[in-house]
This record gives sequence, structure tokens and C-alpha cells, in this order.
Amino acid sequence: MRKKMVAGNWKMNNTISESLQYLDVIKDKINNNDIDVVFCVPSLNIMKIQDKLENTKISVGCQNMHFEESGAFTGEISAKMLKEAKVQYVIVGHSERRQYFGENDEIVNKKTVQALKHGLTPITCVGETLENREQGITIELVRTQVKVALNNISKDDVVKVILAYEPIWAIGTGVTATSAQAEEVCKEIRKVLTEIYDKETSDKVRILYGGSVNGKNAKELFSMENIDGGLVGGASLKPEFEQVVNYLEGK
Ligand code: PGA
Repeated sequence: MRKKMVAGNWKMNNTISESLQYLDVIKDKINNNDIDVVFCVPSLNIMKIQDKLENTKISVGCQNMHFEESGAFTGEISAKMLKEAKVQYVIVGHSERRQYFGENDEIVNKKTVQALKHGLTPITCVGETLENREQGITIELVRTQVKVALNNISKDDVVKVILAYEPIWAIGTGVTATSAQAEEVCKEIRKVLTEIYDKETSDKVRILYGGSVNGKNAKELFSMENIDGGLVGGASLKPEFEQVVNYLEGK
């Protein structure tokens, strides 16, 4: 049985004081045993947020890191730095990183490998644009993204990776993929995992859906066979996040 997970991606939102205020409102409501809850926050806020969440089951993650060990990479953060700061999760290859910062599948692979090397859990993102979907190449494209992202990753390591399927046309737009559309691609991702590794391994990997998940649609999406939870942007910044995490209690 794969444990469900809800990861909030704050993106470039919330100063330290805003973060702490928000967590005061929400933390006790989402302190959940049955599901892994993570906030991927701006790096500068990590330490303060960890203190705030110390006696809860909520984890703190980062939104990006560099694939090299250290060196002349102005503005970047290494896996080793995150590890020492006791960060467990790191988002890798989010579509905004791909779109605005030139990250391609090879870079996403290097980052995923580097995260694993340092004992971090990568949340590695894939997904198609609207144009790709209209061209009918979604499945083909996502299959390639997954294959390249997992290049040179062993069977033992891949079960530590979390994959997130995020159709770009659904991110921040309020347009959610239907549960059938999301399940179709997540199922295909699991099929790719079976092809590269084997069924037993594939069954262990968690696959999240992301793209306009909210308190109303979480239950239907997360109930699909191959969707193990969500990567949530906008709704993770609001009290509504409570309904996403506690989706089973919703209608
Ligand atoms: P959204 O963002 O929930 O605001 O669509 C999801 C994401 O970018 O991970």
C-alpha cells in the first residue's frame, strides 16, 4: 500500500513572518498520521518553519537545488546544504523551472540523481503543455520525460523517488485535469516504471497529480488507482489546504 501524500508548493510566496502566521492558523488542522504532508517553501524560510513545525508530523521541503556538489554557481543551493538543514524533500524539474530557468530532462535527471545521492527525496515533475495535448503527444512526451528523468537510477533508488504529473495547462489556471485525464497519464507513468524496472518496483513508487488541486476536487483525484496524492500550489497558501489534506472527510 502506497501512503498518500500532499505536498504544498508555495513557489515565491510568503515571507518568514507571513509563513509563521499562516502555519499558526493551519498546522494543527493538517497534522495527519494517515498521509504525508509537506510544505515546499522558499529556501530562506526553511529553518524558521522547521522550528515552527517541530512537534508536528508536517515535513519541510525545498523547491529546487543544484546538481553539483558545490562551487561557483551563484545563487544556488546544494543537496548537502539541504541535508544538513534536515530538509527531506526537494521538488525537481517543476514546469516553472523548465519554462523560466531552462531546465531540460537531462538537468532534471542530474538533480534527481544528486538528491538521491544525499538521501533527499526528490519530487520529480513531468507534464505536457496544452499544445502538446492538442497535438496528441501527451503520453509519448511524458513517457520520455520519465525515462530521461530516471536514467541511471537503480531499482532500489527509484522507490525513493516521488513523481508528480503536472499538466502545464492546469497549473495555476483553475482548470483541473479531469480525474480520468489525470489517471490516464499516471497509469501510463506506472506502466513505464514497470517497463524500466518491474511491477513490484513500479507498485511502490508514489505518483502525485498537480494542477489546480483544491478542497473540492482533491477527493476525486486522489481516489484514482494510480494517483497517490497531490502537488498543490495556490491552494497550499490558503486555509483551504485543510480540505485538500483531509480530503477523505470531504463530500
Ligand atoms: P497550482 O500549482 O495548484 O496552483 O495549479 C501546482 C504546482 O505548480 O505545483
